[in-house]
Order: sequence, then structure tokens, then C-alpha cells
Amino acid sequence: MAGNRTFTMIKPEAVAKGYAGKILDHIITGGFKVIAMKFTHLTLQQAQAFYAVHKERPFYVELTEYMSESPIVVIALEKDNAVADFRTLVGSTDPNEANEGTIRKRFAESKAKNAVHGSDSDENAAVEIKFHFKDNEIFA
Ligand code: CMP
Repeated sequence: MAGNRTFTMIKPEAVAKGYAGKILDHIITGGFKVIAMKFTHLTLQQAQAFYAVHKERPFYVELTEYMSESPIVVIALEKDNAVADFRTLVGSTDPNEANEGTIRKRFAESKAKNAVHGSDSDENAAVEIKFHFKDNEIFA
């Protein structure tokens, strides 16, 4: 059975441009319930740990430096079929390939500065939520 939780981050460039409120509205209007949320600024070490799965990828250094350059908003979400439905709402990694009406089509700048993160599996969603939130910070 598909899980009902996913995790997202509103990334540095989207927060800096003042898009956090509009992105949050897009997410809630899309049927997701916010069960945990905070404004934070990752250290480089935290960004490296969060994206450890991409350690061997050519964009790892660029990605982790970028994700730790300024504040982000981290959010845990609930909905039936959360991971897949959120990825549909967000659109392709590359905003040039994202469908009309998706978050990345509306707000992303490039493949690296792509406005939001979305978990890619139920297992990773659980790991990512635990990375950022204590149990008593989650209001399901
Ligand atoms: P995200 O959903 O946060 O998960 C991994 C991230 O790596 C992805 O979004 C992009 O921001 C980044 N990424 C993926 N592919 C590339 C690429 N080719 N160049 C730069 N960054 C990338």
C-alpha cells in the first residue's frame, strides 16, 4: 500500500525570492496537509548528510553548497499516495521539462535551483522527515 507521508524543502532561491507563501498555498490547494514545518538554515555538513545518496553524482558539491547558502523551509506532508502525488504536483527536476501548472514550472530557475525538493520513495520520506523533525514537532 502506498504511504501517506512525504517531505519537501522550499529551496534557498525560492525562499530568497519570496515564493515560500505561494508555494505553500500551491501545496495545500493540491490537497496536502502540513503536519510539520520550520524555517531553517542547513550547515554544509547537514546538506551533505541529507544528500549523501547523491555523493557520487557530478552535481553533489554544487547541490550541497547551494542548499546551505541561505534559509530554507522544511515541511512534512500527509495525503493518500503522498510521494507520487507530490512529485506530480512539483513537476520534472528540470523546469524546462515541467508540465504547466506545476510548482517547478511556476517557480523554478534551473535543474539545480529547482524551487522544491520532493521525496522519491516512502522509505526516503520517512528518513527525511526524521532527519528534520523530532516526534513532538509532528502534528498529524
Ligand atoms: P531534489 O529533489 O532536491 O533531489 C536531488 C537534487 O539534485 C535535485 O532536486 C536537483 O536540485 C539536484 N540535481 C539533480 N540533477 C542535477 C543536475 N544535473 N545538475 C544540478 N543539480 C541537479
